[in-house]
Amino acid sequence: MITEEKNITSLCSNISINEQSGHLHFAGYDTVELAKKYGTPLYLIDESHIRKMCKIYVEAMKEAFDDLSIPLYASKALSFKKIYNIIDSEGMGADVASIGELYTALQAGFPANKLMFHGNNKTDNDIEFAIKNNVGCFVCDNREELESIDSISKKYGVKQPIMLRITPGIDPHTHAKINTGQVDSKFGAAIETHQAYNLTSYALSLNNIDLRGFHCHIGSQIFEFEPFCDAAKIMLKFIAEIKNETGFLARYLNIGGGMGVKYVNSDPEIDYKSNIIAIGKIIKDECKALHIPTPHIFMEPGRSIVAASGMTLYSVGTIKVIEGFKNYVSIDGGMTDNPRYALYNSAYTVALANRINESAEFKCTVAGRCCESGDLIQENVLIPSPVRGDILAVATTGAYNYSMASNYNRIPRPPVVILTPKKDYVAVKREQLSDLISLDN
Ligand code: LLP
Repeated sequence: MITEEKNITSLCSNISINEQSGHLHFAGYDTVELAKKYGTPLYLIDESHIRKMCKIYVEAMKEAFDDLSIPLYASKALSFKKIYNIIDSEGMGADVASIGELYTALQAGFPANKLMFHGNNKTDNDIEFAIKNNVGCFVCDNREELESIDSISKKYGVKQPIMLRITPGIDPHTHAKINTGQVDSKFGAAIETHQAYNLTSYALSLNNIDLRGFHCHIGSQIFEFEPFCDAAKIMLKFIAEIKNETGFLARYLNIGGGMGVKYVNSDPEIDYKSNIIAIGKIIKDECKALHIPTPHIFMEPGRSIVAASGMTLYSVGTIKVIEGFKNYVSIDGGMTDNPRYALYNSAYTVALANRINESAEFKCTVAGRCCESGDLIQENVLIPSPVRGDILAVATTGAYNYSMASNYNRIPRPPVVILTPKKDYVAVKREQLSDLISLDN
């Protein structure tokens, strides 16, 4: 029988097996030792892998476009102070999608002018906070926000750079809940309905707004290459049309994030560099055909920067065998630290970190400890017949796990430990029981 344990190492080069100890290693560290040192549940983050992915994007975008074309890390994927320092030191900008992400980035010392502020419903308070703190650029997709930015910019005597979020009308064939490029999306102004044109004209009429260009984001966890190219072509055509009709030439085009990540062995491997270079060629050719200069390009990768840099460790608690039906293995975490299976049925690869060389013949559902039947991490996985106290590892949890964690059932959130070749350190402390009531009156 094929063992799931062996599968886990082929997901990413930062996962390995120590044959002698029979332990799973991550980023060069013995995960069983880390579980002992920090306790479980535990989020691990491999800093070298994040840096490697940043370099791939930064270098490929320079090669594909120009020096002003940079990746902006979509910090919704994983946001805490330290991550912004890592991203900054790799020469990337960042996309922040809320005042909370913006605040975290600023508190970390991230340069405000390299922040792009997203969101389909920013409040006046959000907008004022961002303008006061000199945020580089807003991405807006509605009239109400433009009005608010215009009047708050006037108050502070600035001409605020913005981009407009446009819906290109693309179906990227991903999970419906993370699909954002289609006409009826809650995000963006659609080209098809003329709302994109009307919003552009409106933005151009406002005195305190400096329209820099357009943005689109078609969805997340996309493995196909064509939807990105189609979206880019539609956006360039829109830029050319706007130029012809209004005289406004967009200097920037942000083509969003969304490139997929390998969570299980059946997922394809993406060559990010080749994809970016190929998109670059298509964009340049299209600009020639449309007789417009190639805009500076932004991309907003989130998942592909951090997903494979993460691993979560849990301790096995109860094992429930229902003869003739199924087996449950319950862990000391669950949907509160990783809600993605509950939300999207997302696939993950799991393994018993302390018994990595044993054959995996026990088929089970890995369940969390919330009072909720849907609180599952994965179903029908194979691990060695577990006992209480075994360490269960879930790979590829760097993106949209910690950032989507909750305190449902008043379960404290796990710490985030960063692993570097030289040291391991706590980037986010383990939540304590007292933290749970710290805001209660
Ligand atoms: N830019 C914008 C405007 C976005 O909305 C997103 C993701 C990104 C960039 C980054 O996309 P990425 O490179 O990470 O695919 N919670 C879901 C994912 C939601 C994605 C939201 N937007 C999940 O766990 O799969």
